[in-house]
Amino acid sequence: MDRLVIEGGTPLEGRLQAGGAKNAALPCIAAALLGADTVALERLPAVSDIRTMLKVLQALGCEVLREDTEEGLAYRAEIRAAGLEAGELRAPYELVKTMRASILVLGPLLARFGRASVSLPGGCAIGARPVNLHLEALERMGATIRISGGYVEAEVPSGRLKGIDHTFEKVSVGATENILMAAALAEGTTVLRNAAAEPEIGDLARLLIAMGARIEGLDSATLTIRGVPALGGAAHAVIPDRIEVGTYLCAVAAAGGDAVIERCLPEQVRALIDLLERAGCTFTEREGPEGLQLRIRREPGQKLRAKDILTAPYPGFPTDLQAQAMAVMTQACGISVIKETIFENRFQHAMELERLGANLRIEGGTAIVAGPAPLTGCTVMATDLRASATLVIAGLVASGQTTVDRIYHLDRGYAGLERKLQGLGARIRRVGGGSV
Ligand code: UD1
Repeated sequence: MDRLVIEGGTPLEGRLQAGGAKNAALPCIAAALLGADTVALERLPAVSDIRTMLKVLQALGCEVLREDTEEGLAYRAEIRAAGLEAGELRAPYELVKTMRASILVLGPLLARFGRASVSLPGGCAIGARPVNLHLEALERMGATIRISGGYVEAEVPSGRLKGIDHTFEKVSVGATENILMAAALAEGTTVLRNAAAEPEIGDLARLLIAMGARIEGLDSATLTIRGVPALGGAAHAVIPDRIEVGTYLCAVAAAGGDAVIERCLPEQVRALIDLLERAGCTFTEREGPEGLQLRIRREPGQKLRAKDILTAPYPGFPTDLQAQAMAVMTQACGISVIKETIFENRFQHAMELERLGANLRIEGGTAIVAGPAPLTGCTVMATDLRASATLVIAGLVASGQTTVDRIYHLDRGYAGLERKLQGLGARIRRVGGGSV
C-alpha cells in the first residue's frame, strides 16, 4: 500500500493548475446514459473515483474510450450508451460499494429504459448517507421501487417517468442530480424545490442542456425541467475542482508561503477565501492566459487568527473543506469552534491531528480547536478522502517527518497531489508498500 512521506516546515511557493472537478465529472458521466449518442467529456480528473464510474457504465453495457491528457493528470472520455436495452441494467455491488456516487446511474436508467437495478451503496466512513431522498422522488415520478438482495430494484410500470412538483425535505447534492437527470426525459414538467445549488449541479445542467434538455433556474434552489422525449450527444469540459483548489489554499495558509492557482473559479471558493482572509491571509485575483488566477499569500511572521466555521450547503462553507480548514486552525492564535452540520461523523481526522500535536476537543457535531499548537511528525492514517488531505496539510506544517498511510483514499479524489505540492516546493514523496 502506498504512503506519503512529508518533511514539514517549508513554506509553499510557486504555481499550480486546478484540475477538473471530480464531483462534477461523476454526474456528467452518469448523464451519458440518457442518450444513445456519444458524450465526450474533457478534464475529468485522473483519480480512482472517475475510473470506477467509467467501469460502472461499462458494466451497464456502454462503450467507453478513455485517454490520458494534461500529462496524466486528466482524462478525456467518450461514452456511448447505445444498445443497452438488451442488457441487465445492473450496477453491481463490487463497484458501487467502493463509491456511493454510483447511485447516480439510477435516475438516468429509469428515465430512459424504465428499469434499473443498482446496488445500495451501504454505509460510509463519514456518516449513514442514506438514499431515501433519491428514491422518494423517483417513486413520486411513477417508479416502483423495492429493495431486494441489497439492490434497489426499480421499474416504471407506465413506461415513462412523469414530471412532479417536488420539495426536497433536505438539501441533497446527489438527490438533486439524480432527479434532475431523470426529469430531463420525463413526461411533462418537473419543478425541484429546496434543490442543492452546488456549482457541480450547474455544470451537470449545462451538459444536459447541451444534450437537448430544457432546464431553467440553473445555480438556484428551484430547478424547472421540461421533459423531452430523447436526448442527443454533446461535448463538455467539467468545471475546475473547488475542493481541490480549497485544499491547496488551506495548505498555503497553514504552512505559509505565496502561491498562484491557475485556471480556477475563485467565486466558487468564496466561503473559504473569506475565512482565510479574516484569519490573516492575503488574496489577489486576476485574468490569466488559462482563465482566472488566484494568488494566496501568508508572509513569514504573519500570524493566523482563529475563526469559527459552520458547514452549510453552497454557498455556505463546504463540508468537504471542513477537515482541511481544521488543519489551518490548529496553527491559528485563539479558539476556533468548527460546527459540522452536513454529516454526523466527519471528525475522524481530529484524532490523527491530535497525534501530530493539535490541541482540540470534539463535542458532538462541534470541534473546538485551540492554537497555535506546534505539530511534530509521526505516522498517521487516512480515514476518508478529505481527512487524508488534512493529514497531508498537517504534515507540511509539522517539524520532522510525517508518514500518511492508506492514501488510497486520497487517490480517489486528488490527481497528482504530491506532484502539485512538489511544484510548490513541498518535500513530499510517495513510497510503495514496503518500508519507508
Ligand atoms: C455530495 C458530494 C460530497 C459532499 C456532499 C455534501 C459528490 C459525489 N459527493 O455527496 O463530496 O460532501 O455532497 O456537499 O458530489 N441525505 C439523506 N438522504 C438522502 C441523501 C442525503 O438524508 O437520500 C443526507 C446525507 O446523509 C447528508 C446530507 O443529506 O447528511 C447531504 O448529503 P448529500 O448532499 O446527498 O451528499 P452526497 O450527494 O452523497
